[in-house]
Amino acid sequence: MMNEIQSFQTEVAENIAGLRQDTDVQALSRVWLREITRYKYAYNFSWMGRPLIQFPQDMAALQELVWLVQPDLIIETGIAHGGSLVMSASLLALLDYCDAVNAGVPLNPSATNRRVLGIDIDIRQHNRTAIEAHPMAHRIDMIEGSSIAPEVITRVREIASGYRQVLVLLDSNHTHEHVLAELEAYAPLVSKNSYCVVFDTLIEDMPADLVSGRPWGKGNNPKTAVWEYLRLLEVEGRTGADGTPLSLENDKTTEGKLLITVAPDGYLKRV
Ligand SMILES: C[S@@+](CC[C@H](N)C(=O)[O-])C[C@H]1O[C@@H](n2cnc3c(N)ncnc32)[C@H](O)[C@@H]1O
Repeated sequence: MMNEIQSFQTEVAENIAGLRQDTDVQALSRVWLREITRYKYAYNFSWMGRPLIQFPQDMAALQELVWLVQPDLIIETGIAHGGSLVMSASLLALLDYCDAVNAGVPLNPSATNRRVLGIDIDIRQHNRTAIEAHPMAHRIDMIEGSSIAPEVITRVREIASGYRQVLVLLDSNHTHEHVLAELEAYAPLVSKNSYCVVFDTLIEDMPADLVSGRPWGKGNNPKTAVWEYLRLLEVEGRTGADGTPLSLENDKTTEGKLLITVAPDGYLKRV
């Protein structure tokens, strides 16, 4: 006999399964995504005062993943205005708050071990100043350099080795070659049952003229890189930083419930 909580969860799972089969609502979502992208919709939002370049649906999904995974390190490539770093840091702050409540001790923000590590090839001075002035800055570290530069990768690996539960978000240069190199460098750092989220895989599903003037486009974008990396994992195999085989699964439940997302095929769970 199911209790109330189980039956609610079952209902939600059925809703999501229904959405995953509903080609009409999927087509509508694609049309909406195509039309809204012309307005740079993702630029419209901010998190605790810092602009971020995300869809609210993906922000909601990140909150669910952070609660599920309980990471102590979030690695993000692509900082821009810093809003996504601030969002990740604030979600880690909430985990610290919950830990303190559960332990029955006062929250001590400076005692946290949970941190965000951002990497960007060009951290503009005005953005750096604003990020460093933010109340969440005490748990944010930033590296300026290309996310695929060997010295940057070495530094990130060193830092990550001191953490238990690592979540990775890839949102920098969106070419196939760059994202594939990022996946090779950072996917092995993802802890078991944690995620590597690859943003802007949506480029593959959009009309070519929407992304003209960029080095990426249809056939050359984060989604094609994800497909290639998953193929390489299957055919050649890779080892995680923890020394065990790396296996990533496309989490279709997250994509299925969001429908509106910049990361179709981009929510990769390490299993
Ligand atoms: C889409 S924005 C990041 C948005 C941010 N994650 C957010 O949600 O607000 C892309 C960023 O990637 C950075 N970038 C471009 N090429 C890069 C590279 N090779 N390595 C690291 N960052 C890079 C750009 O400077 C830019 O700030």
